Amino acid sequence: MGLPWRVALALQEDGWFLRSHITWIKTAAMPESMKNRLTRSTEDIFLLSASPKYFYNLDGVRQDSGANLRDYWIIGPDGNKAGHPAAFPRELARRCILLGSQRGDTVLDPFGGCGTTGIVARSLGRDAVLVELSEKWSDVIESRVNGA
Ligand SMILES: C[S@@+](CC[C@H](N)C(=O)[O-])C[C@H]1O[C@@H](n2cnc3c(N)ncnc32)[C@H](O)[C@@H]1O
Repeated sequence: MGLPWRVALALQEDGWFLRSHITWIKTAAMPESMKNRLTRSTEDIFLLSASPKYFYNLDGVRQDSGANLRDYWIIGPDGNKAGHPAAFPRELARRCILLGSQRGDTVLDPFGGCGTTGIVARSLGRDAVLVELSEKWSDVIESRVNGA
């Protein structure tokens, strides 16, 4: 369905500015049983801003060479799952948080999962607000992020 792109374009229609499309290349993608198309091993990450001018910390994350970070991120699993079927690796959250926020800022993850964004945000000196539909995963977030 190209759902991520549909959401990005709908947000653009709503007035958001689409500034970057990043391709997350998964080094250990899940196998698929489909016989008539390629196995998906990438996901899309969009940088959207509410206004033309916005905070962006170019030095938050750089290439090993010191060059500006490229828009393809090769990131493998890091054992962060906590049993969640779709948790992302901490490095993914770390890059987004470092590029788009400063210490003391608040980061929002409207699909909290098992709390990756909250854990990483806290470790980087940011606050976080996480929204999670499932009570089961809300409890996991509570215990992983707040140690409850
Ligand atoms: C892809 S997972 C996110 C995983 C998260 N990034 C992590 O690393 O832990 C998406 C999560 O969004 C939750 N979810 C789905 N629809 C939602 C909604 N309408 N409001 C809040 N949470 C929702 C699901 O229960 C699921 O845990």
